[in-house]
Amino acid sequence: MKILITGGAGYIGSHTILEVLEKTSWQVISADNFMRSEPETFGRIKKITKKEINNYDIDLCDLKKTKKIFSENPEIEGVIHFAALKSVPESVTNPELYVHNNIESLKNILACIKEFGVKNFIFSSSCAVYGNIDTLPVNEETPIQKAQSPYAETKQEGEKIIAKFSKENPAIHCISLRYFNPVGAHPSGLIGEAQTGNYGNIVPAITQTAAGIQEQFQVFGNDYKTRDGSCIRDYIHVSDIANAHVLALQFLFGKGNKTNFEIINLGTGNGVTVFETIKAFEKISGRKLNYVIGTRRPGDVEAIYSDSSKAKKLLGWTPKYSIEEMMASAWKWELYRTRENQ
Ligand code: WQD
Repeated sequence: MKILITGGAGYIGSHTILEVLEKTSWQVISADNFMRSEPETFGRIKKITKKEINNYDIDLCDLKKTKKIFSENPEIEGVIHFAALKSVPESVTNPELYVHNNIESLKNILACIKEFGVKNFIFSSSCAVYGNIDTLPVNEETPIQKAQSPYAETKQEGEKIIAKFSKENPAIHCISLRYFNPVGAHPSGLIGEAQTGNYGNIVPAITQTAAGIQEQFQVFGNDYKTRDGSCIRDYIHVSDIANAHVLALQFLFGKGNKTNFEIINLGTGNGVTVFETIKAFEKISGRKLNYVIGTRRPGDVEAIYSDSSKAKKLLGWTPKYSIEEMMASAWKWELYRTRENQ
């Protein structure tokens, strides 16, 4: 069995490659042009698994180059499509980049899986598709609201494209996995979120502030209508997310699905505020975080957390890590990376 993982050098892509290599006998190839990742990631995967990953360093917005991956690997039986830009603030300042990159690459991948007879497709989606929700927790039937950022719009549009594609291609089985907030790092501490430029995610911002790389952490607003005034998110360990991808592909390979397009939430179901995330970090690191209260960030939703019972029922998936374990793994990785760069 051979699978293609696009964005394999990325944060969730690299952790999913590790999960595939550690838990299955599948062969993995990657497609990643290092736009938001680093080639060193494959060296880290090799250090952990002793395995080399064959990566196609190509732009998936180039259909001709994307086809080459499939023509050279006719035995691909499944594709997990991670490759996309995913920073909410960056999408607010550069919407055209997000629409072009995230939608063109998806359309090319779908064209290829159709042309080359691939029957199983997993799409990396996001809780951002729900928009500002007032009935929490959200499940897969929760009506989608207006996207709060161009990033979220590309994920909503992506799911619409796949819904239409799956109707037109009943023999191709698709799952859209809606991640809540992936954080943390592989338990080995040898791989994690490679911050290529600061794209604003909370956990790298916390650990890089504590490591002295970032001057000060800013809480983007403490005047929200939540228990402590800061935004609520459903943080989920990246290794739990990676495990869900293996289970989702095994589910499709085992023909467990009743329809050929399933949407599945991946979250813990626990809403955690920004201040509670800071407290969890201070508890596991023994350090006080240097932070200041700033203004709200455009594109942020006030609160969102999941009902992920469908993932448990359909995939047998149960997230394992607590918020403290998520922060501890992120801190371990930051300390490793700081030493690596010395
Ligand atoms: C989380 C909270 C900020 C940084 C992410 C990914 C997106 C998608 C959904 C998909 C917000 C606050 C942050 C900081 C802060 N995941 N914050 N100070 O915006 O929920 O979106 O999850 O895979 O791809 O980007 O995550 O980590 O940017 O922010 O106060 O320096 O932390 O306001 O409330 P977000 P985030």
